[in-house]
Amino acid sequence: MDSRLGVVVLFCLVGLTCAQPVKFVDCGSVSGKVVEVNINPCPSQPCQLHKGESYSVNVTFNSVVDSTESTAVVHGIVAAIPIPFPIPVNDGCKSGIQCPIQKQLMYNYVATLPVKTEYPAIKLVVEWELRDDDTKDLFCIKFPVQIV
Ligand SMILES: *[C@@H]1O[C@H](CO)[C@@H](O)[C@H](O)[C@H]1NC(C)=O
Repeated sequence: MDSRLGVVVLFCLVGLTCAQPVKFVDCGSVSGKVVEVNINPCPSQPCQLHKGESYSVNVTFNSVVDSTESTAVVHGIVAAIPIPFPIPVNDGCKSGIQCPIQKQLMYNYVATLPVKTEYPAIKLVVEWELRDDDTKDLFCIKFPVQIV
């Protein structure tokens, strides 16, 4: 095996920073453009989310607008029905983003996704939006996960 690949695999297995970008679908980012999405730890895709654990979600995006505020809205889509997926901090400006957001700048939105023990062990799609002052999406991404 290529030794660099070996190191990456080892890092992923022990749950260290595994900067393997996650495959996502853009669901209408109009106020920004998504560069990359990282979920940690997520050694294989779709990401397996273990009940009782927390995951970090890191979305790198370019803003095309100025915005003083930003608000995250997260849903889990189960059987085509979006269900609110609570996260501890909805304020994007307290999630790694230095506000006010300026157009043409790149930002890293970094948030925590806690997986409650009472969640059912199902596959679902997570839809994660970050809305600007006009409630337009700085980003909207969708990615599949499996709760285990
Ligand atoms: C978020 O991802 C970007 C791009 O991979 C990386 O440069 C940055 O260090 C990450 N930030 C955190 C807090 O993980």
